[in-house]
Amino acid sequence: VTETGPAAERSLATVLRFANLIAEVTGNVVPETRHELLREILSRRCRAAGFIEPGSYVEALIRGDLATEWDILVALITIKESYFFRAPQQYEALRKELLPRLVRSRAASRHLRIWSAACARGEEPATLAMVLAEESALAGWDWSILATDIDEEALSVARRGLYGERSVAQVPPALLERYFHPRGKLFELDSQLRARIDYRTLNLAHPPYATPFREYDLILLRNLLIYFSRPLQVKVVAEMRRILAPKGIVFLGASETLWPIQDELEPVDLGSCFCYRRRRVTTTGELSRAQIREAERQLALAASTPAEVKASRGHREGTEATPVAVPRPAGPLPLPATVSPPVGIQERLLAAARDLAANRVEEAAREIEQALAADPAEPAAHALEGFLHDLSARTEEAVSCYRAALYLDPALYQVRLLLADCLLRLGQRERAEHQYREVLASLDSGRERALLVFGVLPLLDRERALKRCHQALDRTGR
Ligand SMILES: C[S@@+](CC[C@H](N)C(=O)[O-])C[C@H]1O[C@@H](n2cnc3c(N)ncnc32)[C@H](O)[C@@H]1O
Repeated sequence: VTETGPAAERSLATVLRFANLIAEVTGNVVPETRHELLREILSRRCRAAGFIEPGSYVEALIRGDLATEWDILVALITIKESYFFRAPQQYEALRKELLPRLVRSRAASRHLRIWSAACARGEEPATLAMVLAEESALAGWDWSILATDIDEEALSVARRGLYGERSVAQVPPALLERYFHPRGKLFELDSQLRARIDYRTLNLAHPPYATPFREYDLILLRNLLIYFSRPLQVKVVAEMRRILAPKGIVFLGASETLWPIQDELEPVDLGSCFCYRRRRVTTTGELSRAQIREAERQLALAASTPAEVKASRGHREGTEATPVAVPRPAGPLPLPATVSPPVGIQERLLAAARDLAANRVEEAAREIEQALAADPAEPAAHALEGFLHDLSARTEEAVSCYRAALYLDPALYQVRLLLADCLLRLGQRERAEHQYREVLASLDSGRERALLVFGVLPLLDRERALKRCHQALDRTGR
């Protein structure tokens, strides 16, 4: 297909170019399943802007000739799904646990700076404003909310503060009564509350960000990173960490996770949800760079002569557990050990694990796919596939893959722990608790096994897995 004539409208190359340009400018990676929609947008906008061929329209966009066109495109390609009190467990944790802490940390200055990054039509910052306005400890404080989005049209809706019934459906009746005024079929957000919110256009795809304040105590970065590529996610998180106050807190969307994209922010388990804070000194279960290097060395050794290396859990007492390779036995393993798939597949999976550790997601996906094609009954391949989905916030897909891995090898305690964490993030508390208990039982029995290929990834060792399970179960009161 050439870029001239009517066939150009259907040109895959033009659509891909358009998709790449959108990713470059806005950070949004439009998945292939939405390329048909993209094609329609392209042909519609091309005509509206006075071009005959989509190719010329894309070229004009690239040259920067159509600056105002981006306002329209952004509104068309971004997903604005949001509503008041979305993920109510996060607001509850904020009210009960986090705000009291923030109030203590800011007692001297009596100010709080909050940022709702990617605020859509303002449902999120307005929810925050209600929660803060209801907090008696903040009476007389100087608190304000920065609300930003790439989409100017969505922000102008937010500034007007008019919402439909569906948006406010989860607002508790008392708050609806106090902070909204009925306007026909709509609800108008109280102007005093709106005055606390500073609505601004900000494209998060190009750090560093010019925010009005140098640091923020609470940042909501919910349901945005899923649209970005892995390298951009890493950059955005690093920038958020820079802007986060030392005792500040970040919330992601309820089913999103940051670890192990990066290690600058660490998760804090709030029972019903997670938030993130700046990483404290290295008392977590993550491997240091040196330990990762050591694990890689061991793995390289194992890949060449797996039978020569004996499993010896505990032989590194006092350090993080570094995986040691053992040959795969014919029958069930008599002792807890680290397991490795056959050489060949093992090398492939090791490469995939290294790619994942270095955020080379596409390369990892290819390696895993080939490993699965070579041996669909290899638990490590399913586990890594789950990890890949987990990284990309596809929590439900991650759950299925972790389950497949555990079906093939139920003793893989780290995989079970990942599964439990995913279930918790999905709000499936009872199932998560069941899995945490299973991990404990397997660790108690001493029959747990770790996957060799997981050695290069920042997973919890035995001791820390124990701690994590107890912590998670304590949180839920079981
Ligand atoms: C699904 S909504 C999330 C809204 C809200 N945070 C929530 O969780 O309910 C995603 C928002 O991200 C915005 N967005 C997309 N790309 C962006 C970018 N590069 N910079 C800032 N905002 C962006 C979209 O316009 C949209 O409003």
